Amino acid sequence: MFKAVSAKQIPRHIAIIMDGNGRWALARKMPRTAGHRQGVEALREIIEASVKLRIAHLTLFAFSTENWKRPESEVKALMSLMVEFLQKELSELHKNNIKINMLGRIQGLPQDAALEIQKSMEVTKNNKGLQVNIAINYGSRAEIVQAVKKITHDICKNRLSPDDINEDLFSRYLETAGIPDPDLLIRTGGEYRLSNFLLYQSAYTELLFTDRQVLWPDFTSRRFLEAILEYQNRIRRFGGIDV
Ligand code: IPE
Ligand code: IPE
Ligand code: MG
Repeated sequence: MFKAVSAKQIPRHIAIIMDGNGRWALARKMPRTAGHRQGVEALREIIEASVKLRIAHLTLFAFSTENWKRPESEVKALMSLMVEFLQKELSELHKNNIKINMLGRIQGLPQDAALEIQKSMEVTKNNKGLQVNIAINYGSRAEIVQAVKKITHDICKNRLSPDDINEDLFSRYLETAGIPDPDLLIRTGGEYRLSNFLLYQSAYTELLFTDRQVLWPDFTSRRFLEAILEYQNRIRRFGGIDV
């Protein structure tokens, strides 16, 4: 399977909406948090596969600005799982030359989660291998509004002129500044929507939605490779025509 994937057209940036943990658990009459725990196992496998494939950026939607609507106990469990993951895995991630980056507002996260994220970013900041962008407390609309605020502020301070604003400049005010737009976006779990994830950045991203049989904890490296194979068979036109 690894061989069938063409080394030439490996997506530079893959973004994933890791959805379906709750349903995975409910189907087994387990609490939703058991699904989230199993989801971490899938995450580990996909990070490992991404390193092997020499993918440059992997962006993972772990917690949206709307996920605060969930019961407090589930939010707590998700945050502790993230802390546990980083505590357990940081040395292994670092050994694999992985750079951890965060997208989203760190303010508002429980203190231990914020500290663990900051520590992981600090320890891995000079790594040159896979960059894992973890989107936590992330919402694309909030990100866009924040970019507009920062641009306005810079104009008011005479650091920027309205004539300087173009698509490129705007991108640099987003949290994904410096990160190429995703080539491929995968959503597991059978929902066909973006749920406020990377709206600006996904303008020309290839979208791949799994059906509802494939929930995030079911997402193996084999399925990941199948997704990349499908991506490699797509024709990206960017508004042009095939040549
Ligand atoms: C995705 O799984 C994980 C997060 C949103 C944090 P869900 O918890 O949304 O699982 P379903 O969609 O309810 O099955
Ligand atoms: C999207 O999943 C967010 C994450 C995977 C972190 P949701 O389960 O929150 O999305 P909706 O509510 O079904 O749109
Ligand atoms: Mg969901």
